[in-house]
Amino acid sequence: MTADSAIFRKLDDKDLPELLALESACFSCPWGEEQYSLAFKQNICHVFGLFEPSSRLLPGAPDHLAAYATIYLLPPEMEILNIAVTPDMRRKGYGRRLLRLVLQIARKMGIQRTFLEVRENNIAAQTLYESMGFEAVGVRPHYYPDTGEDARLMRLEMDSENGDGAAEHDLDQGDTTE
Ligand SMILES: CC(C)(COP(=O)(O)OP(=O)(O)OC[C@H]1O[C@@H](n2cnc3c(N)ncnc32)[C@H](O)[C@@H]1OP(=O)(O)O)[C@@H](O)C(=O)NCCC(=O)NCCS
Repeated sequence: MTADSAIFRKLDDKDLPELLALESACFSCPWGEEQYSLAFKQNICHVFGLFEPSSRLLPGAPDHLAAYATIYLLPPEMEILNIAVTPDMRRKGYGRRLLRLVLQIARKMGIQRTFLEVRENNIAAQTLYESMGFEAVGVRPHYYPDTGEDARLMRLEMDSENGDGAAEHDLDQGDTTE
């Protein structure tokens, strides 16, 4: 299986158990069931994932969530709340592909800039974001309550190409085009 063959789609309530398990495996202060259930009810909050298709040897088995990204869409801005890849599938391109697809949807919606916060010591995530064009624009001192770590605020100015108004379809169905 590769990141390129993973299935991209929007998550909903049915995906909650797998989402919560991956969230707990990836973050020291994970969102819980209540936060995600609330988030799914909000129009501005969306969670997208990359799924590994179930094996042909196990017909009927559910697809496996390999990576997900939680975003707030507040046109003309987007905030990426988190992005995570299951630990044993990192450095295989899942994070980059997921981020690229989410940014593509945002561009189609006419989003003009994207913000995110990242831990000062999270070099893997910062390197990924920088490779996608994000730049550091500020620091939020002692932002993370578990460690007191600073957050680096990063911003991506989006170009307007691909702004074709197809966003409603994308948000309902996910978008498998690249
Ligand atoms: C950050 C994260 C999402 C990256 O996902 P990933 O699938 O491993 O990333 P990719 O394989 O797509 O890598 C894309 C690029 O990111 C950078 N990168 C990823 N992991 C890295 C690491 N450990 N060290 C340095 N650079 C790294 C590299 O530039 C990489 O490109 P390359 O492999 O061609 O060198 C993943 O490490 C993760 O889930 N971390 C835990 C959760 C987290 O911290 N999320 C970010 C919250 S803000």
